Amino acid sequence: MNPISVPLETESIVLPNGTLVVATAKNCWLSSGQTFSTEKTASGLLPATSQDSLRQLLAGCILAGLGSSKRAQPKPRRPKTLPSYLYALCSGYRTAAATPPAMRLAAATFREQGLLALAAHAAEVAREETGHDLMVLRDMNALGIDGKRFVERVQPAFSLAVVDHLQALASSPHPVGVFGYAYTLERLCALIGQRDIDQIEALIPPGLNAMRFVRLHSGIGAEAHHVEEGLGLMVTLGAADRATAALAAYSTACMFGAAQEPPSDREVLAIARDCATEPDLISPWLCSVSADLAEV
Ligand SMILES: [Fe+2]
Repeated sequence: MNPISVPLETESIVLPNGTLVVATAKNCWLSSGQTFSTEKTASGLLPATSQDSLRQLLAGCILAGLGSSKRAQPKPRRPKTLPSYLYALCSGYRTAAATPPAMRLAAATFREQGLLALAAHAAEVAREETGHDLMVLRDMNALGIDGKRFVERVQPAFSLAVVDHLQALASSPHPVGVFGYAYTLERLCALIGQRDIDQIEALIPPGLNAMRFVRLHSGIGAEAHHVEEGLGLMVTLGAADRATAALAAYSTACMFGAAQEPPSDREVLAIARDCATEPDLISPWLCSVSADLAEV
């Protein structure tokens, strides 16, 4: 096999599954067996890097993580429905609720170590993210669902595992992994574009303000800015810390890649009806969705 020729200014990292990620300021490559031209491939991460190179390196780590699932065939994406939107909100609730305390814990550790810039960034993320879990509940309430009851009934196992992962990263003696974790979540949220927002909006009964959380956590909301802020912080780290953050970005993406299929719309809808804020007066959208599903 001919070696892939890569430019001189490269960085690389080997992931736990053996995949080699090579990045330049313009591209990234993944190799799990392909031979790279070793004389042209920088070994490891450079002592200092550029924001563009780091962006590519992290993109490679996230792509490798998303593709790491052992699933033989990726299942086709199900069309967006109101119940699948509600299920996604339940995942968002779990990760949003976990972020502020985890970031405050990381900030305290950095502060003790005298790493004040890292402490300030983690504390700022905690501050920015505070209350976003409540935004989910408000969106659900707008749909006639008791959000608190609904998120207790619907706890996606994948999001609980992601939260455990964040807590482990934040509890580490030198928790720079939290920045890689946050980057992966924000980068994936930033992929939610106007088209996705429009598709969800078409599912929401007119006049209901039930998209605050997804609008904010999308490419048209705050996430594109957060992605740049995260990069701006991580580019200041030394090579070892950047490697730790990149590996955390990868491990977080692995969890998204392995996320199980959501339950059926019928199951989610049944719980939504149980959690209706006024059981005797089920919201019109619940009735209309029920009718649609009955025709399937
Ligand atoms: Fe948030």
